[in-house]
Amino acid sequence: MTVFHLRAAGTSLVLDARGVAASILHWGPDLGGPDIPADLFVPAVPPSSIDVPLRLSLLPSLAEGWTGRPAMEGGHFRTAEAQLQDQTISVRATSTDGTQEVCTELGMSEQGVLRLRHRLTNRGDAELTVPNLDMLLPIPAEASELLDFTGLWSHERQPQRAPLRHGVWSRESRHGRPGHDDAFLMVAGEPGFSFRKGRVWAVHLAWSGDKRIWAERSALGYQVLGAGELLAPGEIRLAPGDSYETPWLIAVHSDAGLDGLSDRLHPWLRSASPVKLPRPVVLNTWEAVYFDHDLPALERLADAAAEVGVERFVLDDGWFTGRRDDKRALGDWHVDPGVWPDGLHPLISHVRERGMEFGLWVEPEMISPDSALAAAHPDWILGPSVAPGSSAGPGAAAGPTWRWQRVLDLTKAYDYLLERLTALLTEYPITFLKWDHNRDLLTPGAAHRQTRALYRLLAELKEAFPHVEIESCASGGARIDLGILPLIDRFWTSDTNDPLDRQSIQRWTGILIPPEYLGGHLGAGTAHVTGRTSALGFRLATALFGSAGIEWNLTTASPAERADIAAWIAEHKRLRPLLHSGRVVRADSPDPAHLLHGVVAQDRTHAVFALVTVGTPAAALPPPIRFPGLDPERDYTVRPIGAPPRYMQDAPPAWMTAGSVTLPGRFLAEAGLPAPLLTPEQALLLELS
Ligand code: DGJ
Repeated sequence: MTVFHLRAAGTSLVLDARGVAASILHWGPDLGGPDIPADLFVPAVPPSSIDVPLRLSLLPSLAEGWTGRPAMEGGHFRTAEAQLQDQTISVRATSTDGTQEVCTELGMSEQGVLRLRHRLTNRGDAELTVPNLDMLLPIPAEASELLDFTGLWSHERQPQRAPLRHGVWSRESRHGRPGHDDAFLMVAGEPGFSFRKGRVWAVHLAWSGDKRIWAERSALGYQVLGAGELLAPGEIRLAPGDSYETPWLIAVHSDAGLDGLSDRLHPWLRSASPVKLPRPVVLNTWEAVYFDHDLPALERLADAAAEVGVERFVLDDGWFTGRRDDKRALGDWHVDPGVWPDGLHPLISHVRERGMEFGLWVEPEMISPDSALAAAHPDWILGPSVAPGSSAGPGAAAGPTWRWQRVLDLTKAYDYLLERLTALLTEYPITFLKWDHNRDLLTPGAAHRQTRALYRLLAELKEAFPHVEIESCASGGARIDLGILPLIDRFWTSDTNDPLDRQSIQRWTGILIPPEYLGGHLGAGTAHVTGRTSALGFRLATALFGSAGIEWNLTTASPAERADIAAWIAEHKRLRPLLHSGRVVRADSPDPAHLLHGVVAQDRTHAVFALVTVGTPAAALPPPIRFPGLDPERDYTVRPIGAPPRYMQDAPPAWMTAGSVTLPGRFLAEAGLPAPLLTPEQALLLELS
């Protein structure tokens, strides 16, 4: 066996498979090569330690002298073989007693994105209970500051930073979905790393169920990033010969801050899980009408949507039998004959006659105790079942309800759901499903099989209806991960359409996910979730960059507002080829009240930026607008576009009075342009060409 070196786009991974246990010697900046003097990586032997140099193996264990968190509790593996094919290293290791085998795959994409997963096979003749099996990657000591995320409903992806000290910092999801507080990415970097600066190493677990993602600085002198599925005791048992495959660990390194991570991740995702472009502009009915489904009213809404240029009309929750509020009917996936005597046909025809596609909301993984489905199949409710006819009601033993609903056991209800969804997609010309998931599972040991069944259901539907796009929604953005991404086409980023909150949620979610995958909608003037009132221009600029849409009863908008919305949609359609293919850039602002983000075309000939005030400026004169990501040698003409924001200035900067300015990219990046004085919660859009 030998030393393997994966290299791509400035990233190297070196794996030494020569010893008893294969070890990753390096993951990070390109080391040149291809040959690596691997023996130079052999460390000294400290006092009061094992008497041989400690190597951090692929499956570190106590038996090797590794007293940090192991890849697998109780494991002790020896490498049996290793090979390299098509930029993928495969390592096969066997347990010392020969009853278990772990095959590890490590692949690097042309963008330098590393993927790593294990497959555990029971080679013994007795049943094997699968323990937590994590992937670990070494990071250097300089990566001593951590960034990960937390959040809550309508406040997803709130960043949190902390120094990495001796010990384990572990973020664990036990929601049966990633959750609003999903750690999302675990980033370790040089202290003070920012969007544009610093070396950073980051991992994400491509999985929609329970998981842990962690960092450890060990007193032994190593530090690692690790992640794996979080399994309940006894959750997976393998019969002799059977295997368990971990989710992929996605790992990226950048020497140019967080934007450098996006520079690798976005092109990789765009090629590995492409979505159909252009993304249609959506109108989603939720905040427009909620459960108040009335054909004439929805037709008027569709008319208003078509008039401003909407391309896809999505009927949200409330269309199926008995669903007049959120307390009942989940599972009864038949169009309500009381509300829709002719089915959805009249509305869909109306929508399509106006040139729009039709989309429909579903929440297949859930069941209301008050539903015909629960009455017919109480045993399909996830969790310990209650005796039929019990006064406690179906599923009562399964803990508290959540939004008055319970979880459907997909392994039991799979065929029913497939039949119902197939029937709907066959009867109606539906091109989009908003697939919701509005509660945690709260059932120990169910997350794995539920997640695998979900993936299977999505894959089967995709195969049968390849023209139907699916949106992953989970009370907003509680299921945004790369495990589900290959099976869906869009994420609902958050239930808040408040632009102030959206600025932050989109900024941070966008490190991993390119903008065209992230739904961002224009909401009503007073946001339904927060009650905050925002200017139309701020709302429009905030919803411009992603997969754009509207979540507002347009029939209540004034003619002037509708004209502004129509102009915005026209501008979005003009710009979306750039917004949905370019490089996402975020400036490091010396004033946290001032944000600057943008998208620069891959050939750097064209860009759109948003200067955003999310608070009260720290000084009378804001910092200059310094545009990152431009070609230093090229001249750009900068001009404001979109609805003018509100200013508080006696005179604008000279270049704005002139209407535009043409300057070299180098000047715009280094000196920048004097910023106008925006009032708080405003956004100025600038186009550079
Ligand atoms: C939660 C979603 O996030 C909302 O957008 C909406 O679809 C509701 N569920 C409907 O119940």
